[in-house]
Amino acid sequence: MHCDEPKDVESTRGDRMDNFILNLTTTIYFGKNQIEHLGPAVTLYGSKVLVLTGKGSAKKYGIFDEVTSQLDERHIPWVEYSGITPNPRLKEILKGIEIIKAEGVDFILAVGGGSVIDAAKAMAFGGYVDDVWEYYLKGADIQEALPIGVILTLSATGSEMNGNSVITNERLKQKIPIHSPRLKPAFAILDPQYTVSVPRDQTAYGIADIFSHILEQYFSPTSDFWVPDRIAEGLMKTLIYWGPVAYENPKNYEARANLMWASTMALNEIIATGKTTDWASHHLEHELSAYYDIPHGQGLAILHPYWLEYVLDEPTLHRFTMYGENVWGLHGDPGKVAKASIRETRKFFDSLGLPSTFSSVGISDEYLEEMADNIVKRSKTIGRFKVLHKEDIVKIYEMAL
Ligand code: NZQ
Ligand code: ZN
Repeated sequence: MHCDEPKDVESTRGDRMDNFILNLTTTIYFGKNQIEHLGPAVTLYGSKVLVLTGKGSAKKYGIFDEVTSQLDERHIPWVEYSGITPNPRLKEILKGIEIIKAEGVDFILAVGGGSVIDAAKAMAFGGYVDDVWEYYLKGADIQEALPIGVILTLSATGSEMNGNSVITNERLKQKIPIHSPRLKPAFAILDPQYTVSVPRDQTAYGIADIFSHILEQYFSPTSDFWVPDRIAEGLMKTLIYWGPVAYENPKNYEARANLMWASTMALNEIIATGKTTDWASHHLEHELSAYYDIPHGQGLAILHPYWLEYVLDEPTLHRFTMYGENVWGLHGDPGKVAKASIRETRKFFDSLGLPSTFSSVGISDEYLEEMADNIVKRSKTIGRFKVLHKEDIVKIYEMAL
């Protein structure tokens, strides 16, 4: 088969495509200086804004000033809450909800990466419910939420165009996602210039996270729907090409622009359309971040290739060869192509300076059982490409030691 021709998807194994409803509510302003749309966009949704930022990068690199001067020009009142940490914590959310209530805020503007955006989403519905954490625990249905806008400063999570929010209860050592269409941002300003200051390590974590999001949806039992798979392959090739360019040359606009749009496209539901998706590696990783507070993308870079190794067997082989041929340009014996595709994935992460073992980031075997127990307490099994039980989870963790 020619390298550019996608490998045919035989329906010998796997599920048929599902019906789907797709509602992409977020307005995207993409490109240089799109911040000029901020004032008019905000006035469509709110009259008093909470400008939410992380620990300091938005101020350090001038993004905060650009944002607030746009608001000032339009005479839009705003208050500030800075200091959201990576892997945002419940107590930060509760403080934000207090500010929103005390100040009469009706719109939240998240200026940052996934952590700031996810925190904004939690605050957006948190003011309408008695116990915000209970909603994460129970995956409860969110009825009401303030509108949110996003100024994205880091390409990674896709939170800028999806309804997900992940927060950490530091006391309980739990990190849990929630999903609701009501949490989708009203708009997101994606100016790649805002990401040139992202340090190399964070750039690499972001790339690993984007790549992992694509793998979670690509490695699927749904075998007869080409459209999302071919888009996913294009996104992976984009990361494989432009990721190292951004890593080596952080100021390269084309590289930053490609990463930015790939991050959004990887988790805005488009490549999940009609498909059953997996998400086991994300379950595995969220425990690591909860226990060790490591960056999400770092945990995924370690774990996802081990997950690939673990789930490769005769029934799953076909999808691995498709991945090897269409993404990595490999040819030959299917079993060899499958194994080589996993090696290529690991090599790609290595080339971005990402770690491949727990020990290299200070994680021992101390909590492996406990973390696996936490996962199966929440849902008996994880993964839908391959269903994993507690003993599988422990084995994958042990592979990573
Ligand atoms: O806090 P500041 O000072 O802003 O610094 C941040 C932070 O230290 C820095 N940074 C951001 N923009 C920068 C910058 N540094 C220099 N220049 C800039 N322009 O980068 C660091 C990491 O930021 P963070 O927001 O934590 O990173 P990311 O975007 O990777 O978000 C990670 C969080 O999102 C969750 C993760 O679990 C984690 O909590 N996820 C959210 C998802 C979603 N909502 O759909 C899906 C993901 O799978 C993920 O779980
Ligand atoms: Zn992720």
